Amino acid sequence: MNQTIKQLQNRKSIRQFTGEHVSDEDLQTILKTAQRAPSSVNGQQVSLVYTHDKEKIAKIAKLCGGQPQVEHADVFVAIVMDFHRTSSALESVGKKHVIQESIEGVLVGAVDAGIMLNHLQSAAEALGYGTTAIGAVRANPKEIIELFNLPPKTFVVVGSTIGVPTKEAKEAPLKPRVPFESFAMEDVYDAKKVTQGALKYDKILKSFREENNTSMLPSYIDSLERFYTNVYFRQNKKVLEEQGFAFEDKVE
Ligand SMILES: Cc1cc2nc3c(=O)[nH]c(=O)nc-3n(C[C@H](O)[C@H](O)[C@H](O)COP(=O)(O)O)c2cc1C
Repeated sequence: MNQTIKQLQNRKSIRQFTGEHVSDEDLQTILKTAQRAPSSVNGQQVSLVYTHDKEKIAKIAKLCGGQPQVEHADVFVAIVMDFHRTSSALESVGKKHVIQESIEGVLVGAVDAGIMLNHLQSAAEALGYGTTAIGAVRANPKEIIELFNLPPKTFVVVGSTIGVPTKEAKEAPLKPRVPFESFAMEDVYDAKKVTQGALKYDKILKSFREENNTSMLPSYIDSLERFYTNVYFRQNKKVLEEQGFAFEDKVE
């Protein structure tokens, strides 16, 4: 099988690290590769702030709700939606930057950040490292903004750990997905198929947990109940607004 396809099909989140370091050379390769990600209108409205400072990583882990996989990572990378770059360029020619005051702007920044995350993680995995996306970086957004010294019109959308995976983590089975036919549909969306697939997946994930002695972890629906029956990071609208973002198209 093609090596790239093999890597992408075998990717999984890695949460156990050996404590070995990500070499400086590899880290530079990972960051430079991430920068080749595409961006909307070539605005390049994503920046990375990375750290291997153990104390800082411990603080980030705490702000992410005490996630041990963050604390034990060798490197943490914050993926920043960055309209400071684009607005300062526009302001230099006397123009006002307003896209961040719209849903479209927030979508652009979030989509570009997600693409960047994937590019960064794929590069790290190609060099033998393990990663996990960290959305919990939005759990305490104000403190994260302070920790990374972020200016207005910027926001950490997501983060990524990077580290050397333990043997067990490397050998752990891949987490199953919803049935393929309920995920990729030809020509039109099939709502019934998607619902049936989701219900089937709940059973698939339960069996997977039992087979792998992880029955204490939630099933698909239990996990959705935990996260999606309320708005878990409620302060983000307020903090985004304080950073200069808006969720209504203020400008005609
Ligand atoms: C945007 C995003 C945010 C995530 N946030 C976290 C997180 O804060 N902590 C964590 O342990 N995993 C996090 N994950 C990892 C998911 O839990 C994981 O991708 C999912 O369970 C599927 O497992 P797999 O990646 O091993 O296939 C996140 C994934 C994504 C894409």
